[in-house]
Amino acid sequence: MTRVLVIFLSLTFLTLTTSSAAIYKGQKVFVKECLKCHDSGQAFVAEYKMKQWKKWMNKKGKLLAKIHLDSKKAKKSHKYFQSSKFTKKTKHLKQFLVEYAKDSGNVPACN
Ligand code: HEC
Repeated sequence: MTRVLVIFLSLTFLTLTTSSAAIYKGQKVFVKECLKCHDSGQAFVAEYKMKQWKKWMNKKGKLLAKIHLDSKKAKKSHKYFQSSKFTKKTKHLKQFLVEYAKDSGNVPACN
């Protein structure tokens, strides 16, 4: 009985820590790669709903890359969005973006 409980608890703990570690990694990517242009940071992330972020970040961020590659204003980001540096990290970035999306409940509402 106790052993089952211990296993159950450690599994819960493991899942919790791995997902927050991924979010943390995603946040680091965001701060390093996105903040220079989207400088409102978390407020920028909270402008969009989870569903929208998921759509942009699906298939290794294919749509998000396209938005930037199609835009002359985002020219400075083209190298990054075309590189494997971006595609390798999209999983973590997605987790971070969805975690702090408008309807995630993780951003304090101030209206
Ligand atoms: C070099 C500057 C630059 C960088 C770096 C950059 N963006 Fe953008 N981003 C832009 C510009 C400019 C647009 C507007 C594109 C347009 O509509 O012409 C844009 C548009 C967007 C949009 C569409 C919504 C909107 O506001 O138009 C999202 C979402 C977005 N960026 C997320 C990100 C994320 C996430 C990253 C980091 C992985 C990132 N951007 C990195 C410049 C940048």
